[in-house]
Amino acid sequence: MYVLGIETSCDDTAAGVLRAPREVLSNEVATQYDLHAAFGGVVPEIASRAHTERVTRVIERAVTNAGITLKDLDAIAVTNRPGLVGSLIVGVSAAKSLAMALDIPMVGVHHIEAHCTAAFAEHPDLDWPFLALVASGGHTALYDCKSPGVIELIGQTIDDAAGECFDKVAVMLDLPQPGGPSVSKLAEEGNPKAVHFPRARVKEDPLAFSFSGVKTSVLYHLKGPGGRRDAPDRENLETSYADVAASFEQAVVDALVKRSLAAIEAKGYTDLVVGGGVAANRRLRADLAAKAPEGVHVRFPSMALCADNGAMIALRGAQMLEAGITDALDLDVSATGEPGALL
Ligand code: KG4
Ligand code: ZN
Repeated sequence: MYVLGIETSCDDTAAGVLRAPREVLSNEVATQYDLHAAFGGVVPEIASRAHTERVTRVIERAVTNAGITLKDLDAIAVTNRPGLVGSLIVGVSAAKSLAMALDIPMVGVHHIEAHCTAAFAEHPDLDWPFLALVASGGHTALYDCKSPGVIELIGQTIDDAAGECFDKVAVMLDLPQPGGPSVSKLAEEGNPKAVHFPRARVKEDPLAFSFSGVKTSVLYHLKGPGGRRDAPDRENLETSYADVAASFEQAVVDALVKRSLAAIEAKGYTDLVVGGGVAANRRLRADLAAKAPEGVHVRFPSMALCADNGAMIALRGAQMLEAGITDALDLDVSATGEPGALL
């Protein structure tokens, strides 16, 4: 069964083709970093307009690069929640048109569930149940992935997402967006123990994350206590930007590692899957692999499957279709939504 996956929930226009259940045949992404760079964040109207201009060509590329034609497709999976409503509508409209024209089933996919399950493509021995850490620009959360139909949220950030924090610290360090890769690259030259940034704990919820404190601490370290983002750096800054980047990265990674390992111990699972753009982080990969207890497999998707992409939507869609879940053409979009809410 060939499944086309379409992803337009934020600022990436993406499509991929999967030969079910796990084989990724193509994975095409058109990013929009250049369009939003001047605004310091994603502008929803610009994002949806760019999706409209690109989605057809990205789908065509995905189908061609998979070595098939549109007529070979058996089903279409599309992200319909959560995300920017104007962006989601573009992908869902494209999916509906194609499903109608080709007379094939379509299924609406929860974006975060797709991050949780992306690792299936490259880890043939991965099976349910497992624990998933999803850390991206918009989300940082832990999910109990019980079965193809049951993925439950068990802990999340109470403020910033981890990737968002990397993006904001990149601005403070005059580094380009997206901040994750640029902060991480600079961090390679720095000492992660140079500055002790806080590892915030959330009272009464050992699985919750909080990153706004570490972000503010970086700002105050650079500008002085109570400093504003546009103020000049402190004159007597004793640490280099590379040291600040490395120390900040370590603080975020420590928080992600600690909560993930606490959750996997609490559930007694043997598989920890990591997804979302922050899963590309080298220090996170190294620390989780080093600190995971014996018998626990830590599964990272490759870089292309960590970030937002269409192949992971196709994969999750294939799992849902296999479980007997399809959506009719009256499928709607939603800006929010818990995993599993529409199942
Ligand atoms: O999942 P994703 O592509 O998009 C969503 O936010 O849904 O994640 C993008 C986020 C950005 O905040 C980016 O800075 C972060 O992932 N990121 C990283 C790295 N690569 C991307 N964060 C830390 N280290 C990285 N190497
Ligand atoms: Zn994402």
